[in-house]
Amino acid sequence: MDTTTLDTTVSNADFLATVATKSDGAALRGDYTHADEHYVVQQNWAAYTEEEHELWRKLYQRQMSLLPGRACDEFIEALLQMNAANGIPEFEKTSKELYAATGWTIVAVPGLIPELTFFEHLANRRFPVTVWLRKPEEFNYIVEPDVFHDFFGHVPMLFNPVFADYMQLYGKGGLKAMKLGGLDQLARLYWYTVEFGLINTKDGMRIYGAGILSSGGEVEFCLTPGTTSRHIHLDIERCLNTLYKIDSYQETYFVIDSFQELFDGTAPDFKPYYDKLKLGEAFPANSLLPGEVELLP
Ligand code: PHE
Ligand code: CO
Repeated sequence: MDTTTLDTTVSNADFLATVATKSDGAALRGDYTHADEHYVVQQNWAAYTEEEHELWRKLYQRQMSLLPGRACDEFIEALLQMNAANGIPEFEKTSKELYAATGWTIVAVPGLIPELTFFEHLANRRFPVTVWLRKPEEFNYIVEPDVFHDFFGHVPMLFNPVFADYMQLYGKGGLKAMKLGGLDQLARLYWYTVEFGLINTKDGMRIYGAGILSSGGEVEFCLTPGTTSRHIHLDIERCLNTLYKIDSYQETYFVIDSFQELFDGTAPDFKPYYDKLKLGEAFPANSLLPGEVELLP
């Protein structure tokens, strides 16, 4: 299937307008001056400083001390094979291994990119990874995604064939949602699965969402029983209709039993969902609806 024929050119002015509604309106951090029409840049690996490599190692070690028994096996196994412990990785090396495993590649980007461009990359099995690393004072918390979040959090899961296929279909679904007015709904699915998803395994509940896996505090919080946050089984319509918080731990986590379940559940045409949900009110981030079961009481 070829989606490369779509026009991906988005003017800078359009993009900055898009971004202003997403963040606090401040200037984006990345350097967009060398980006091509797909917002792709060179990683320029040789330009990272020794201090940045050292900060990466510290971030990596801290996360790895938290992940055993919490991250899903698929994530940990792929991460270990990626040999990313010793400093900021060279994207091209991992990209070759990833391509051999699932046909995905990594492309370097300056930071946040326009929705259309993002969906186009995913639809063509290209994952955009931000090139810059956070500052030392942002060790625990960062607003915009940096290379640690994008690479450490997202890339390992792309080695899993079913999840990799899900991500591509998500990109195609994004292009479709743009035409159908379903972007708000579809963004919630990304948030609650790709970024903050949990999965039941034979060993217990585990994390597969990149937003959790790259975060110091939420790794522990999201699997702690008895917090005020919900852990409910993923229902696609419910998820598409649930608001989320971007500046606190999640108040609802959606839990799947397998990546195949995620893939199969999202395969149907979403147009009926969009048509229906556009007309109503979305659920607050902390809802527990009648009949829903808290899976981590
Ligand atoms: N099936 C969805 C649609 O028709 C597309 C999609 C697939 C969305 C996978 C998300 C994940 O719009
Ligand atoms: Co992310």
